Amino acid sequence: MVLSRRLPDAAVAVLTAVADVHRPEVDRPLGAEELRTAVAGADALVCLLLDRVDDALLDAAGPQLKVVANIAVGYDNVDVEACRRRGVRVTNTPGVLTDATADLTLALLLGITRRVGEGDRLLRAGRSWGWDLDFMLGTGLRGARLGLVGYGAIGQAVARRAAAFGMHVAYAARHPAAADAPPAERLPLADLLASSDVVSLHCPLTPGTRHLVDAAALRSMRPTAFLVNTARGPVVDEAALVAALEAGEIRGAALDVFEDEPALHPGLVGRDDVLLTPHLGSATVQTREAMAVLAARNAAAVLTGQEPPTPVG
Ligand code: DGY
Repeated sequence: MVLSRRLPDAAVAVLTAVADVHRPEVDRPLGAEELRTAVAGADALVCLLLDRVDDALLDAAGPQLKVVANIAVGYDNVDVEACRRRGVRVTNTPGVLTDATADLTLALLLGITRRVGEGDRLLRAGRSWGWDLDFMLGTGLRGARLGLVGYGAIGQAVARRAAAFGMHVAYAARHPAAADAPPAERLPLADLLASSDVVSLHCPLTPGTRHLVDAAALRSMRPTAFLVNTARGPVVDEAALVAALEAGEIRGAALDVFEDEPALHPGLVGRDDVLLTPHLGSATVQTREAMAVLAARNAAAVLTGQEPPTPVG
């Protein structure tokens, strides 16, 4: 078994109980070339969303590979069809990161609507300021319309939090929500974009959602609206987003994920109407440990001939 990154002890304990574990010597994610070398002959790969698991990597691993356990709920980095062709199981880590990601979404939503990043930058730059009736006014959330694109576990967790702030919640999704989902109006995407004060993305990255938020979608939003993205960067056409902000087509954006991570579109960086965080959605100590342990349980289950807890597909 190969790990593309060192894991917390609790996850390693799950794995060493069933397999010989090859742990990276370096305390950072392996690079693509290093991973290609390390994976040769492995029966299991526990990997990160940074690792591209494609035909080339699967060929480098060899036919004995049984499982790719991705430490993320998103698995757009894994060519699931190529794995299926080879009989390799793919697993992800849903559930354990729902609250952390929903919490960060609210942090971004509050941060961009109340100009938290902008205020922080103003103070650090030593610029003069003083309390005034119209100084740095933001947008209140009570009564504002939140439009969720995607209404899975994370979208629903965001809906619960937003309801506590008095927001009116709507969603656009391919299927109606289950009966136990928080109450929210289901709208066609075009109507959701046109009517929301905040649009927050919670869909997976697929060929169908790549650049879902493009120039036309941005143009259809309210000029006073905000965009929040804690899903995947390429769901948004970043060049179109920069142009839309420049043209005043929307008021601001808060982004945790980027089209070409870790690179940032240069047009985003200098803008005060943009709040940026470096893919921190699941970044709590507890959540990252839970993700690693779940991935380890998935890999261990496949290696011992059992059904993994959270398979993909
Ligand atoms: C995921 O699990 O897909 C998240 O992006 C990790 O932070």
